Amino acid sequence: MLNYPFLGVLLASLLFFSCNKEEAATRKTNSSDQPAATTKAKSDDVIRVGAVFAMTGPIATYGQESVNGINLALKKINAESIKGKRIELIVEDNKGEPAESANAVRKLIDIDKVDVILGAVASSNTLAGAPIAQNQKVPLITPASTNEKVTQTGDFISRTCFTDNFQGVVMAKFAASTLQKKNAAIIIDNASDYSKGLASVFKDEFKKLGGTIIDQNFTYTQKDTDFRSLLRRVKRANPDVIFLPGYYTEVGLMLKQAKQMGINTPFLGGDGWDSPKLQELAGPEGVKGNYISSHFSADDKDEKVQAFVKDYVDNFGAKPGAMAALGHDGMLVLADALKRAENFNAESIKMAINSTKGFVGVTGSITIDENRNARKSAVVLETKPSGMSFKQKVSP
Ligand code: PHE
Repeated sequence: MLNYPFLGVLLASLLFFSCNKEEAATRKTNSSDQPAATTKAKSDDVIRVGAVFAMTGPIATYGQESVNGINLALKKINAESIKGKRIELIVEDNKGEPAESANAVRKLIDIDKVDVILGAVASSNTLAGAPIAQNQKVPLITPASTNEKVTQTGDFISRTCFTDNFQGVVMAKFAASTLQKKNAAIIIDNASDYSKGLASVFKDEFKKLGGTIIDQNFTYTQKDTDFRSLLRRVKRANPDVIFLPGYYTEVGLMLKQAKQMGINTPFLGGDGWDSPKLQELAGPEGVKGNYISSHFSADDKDEKVQAFVKDYVDNFGAKPGAMAALGHDGMLVLADALKRAENFNAESIKMAINSTKGFVGVTGSITIDENRNARKSAVVLETKPSGMSFKQKVSP
């Protein structure tokens, strides 16, 4: 236990399913117990899946929505069996921190002896844990980390979402072509590989399309709360569009402060804005009239999507955001791979994951390419006080 002093306890989001333990097969870890007491020997009929997600902290909605989506998928998966086995899920809270993510991956591998790992969401968190999984040869699938470097870690690391090379181009085109903007400011979260990577893709593409990028250092760091001096500099530079590839907590506060300072320039963002908390943090005025790229729209008329939206609303009382959908699809892709795997050793599981082709989830059709990335459509959403509203779908 001393090796893992910071690991979180799996919280109330899973209690939801604990009334039917057989079906959900979700196990809680408890950091206050000795590992020997918490880690039951794995029975033969169980495939153990570790999940590394932010259940608490500034990006907690990512983990909460992911685990909700995963649990909905698990209900279906465990209603049948995978060659006589069912999936047991062990969730570790990384609190949104890279160091905690590395600890969580180590703990899941060393102590829980998981067969495969799902997670994390924020790219810097996944980048901290992935090398450990790669070295220990435990397959890891991230349902949501879009930074290019994530899957470059090695052959045991794959993703079921698109990457920032795609998402950044989608938003640059939206800015230049759809909105007809010419002069962009880019605000970067210096603590985030995601933010830096996505900013650089947007910048190159926007310039290629004839736009100008204001050549100033507009940066902040995760957990900052007062963005007014940064925003004052942005306002003075007079952009006609502002690209802000950040996470929802800082983005929400920034949008609110920008509006209070009389900045009416549209902000554009990426999937990091996609949280049920964005509207609350930015306020109705702050959130209005901005656009993001993301993975999923609850407005999608597709039958499968609407069935998922209904199931999610029935269980959790709110519409699913991108992370709920991505978590759900990541779990289903994993279950599909386990069904196809020759046996349940790491090498076979990895090969089955990496040969996923045309798996149709609620976030689209998922094919894992030779670089272990998924080629999928993105959606552009308008952020409104009432939620995210579908604007367009963009195919790769
Ligand atoms: N793509 C983001 C990252 O890599 C994570 C994210 C995905 C956040 C989907 C919200 C929704 O850091």
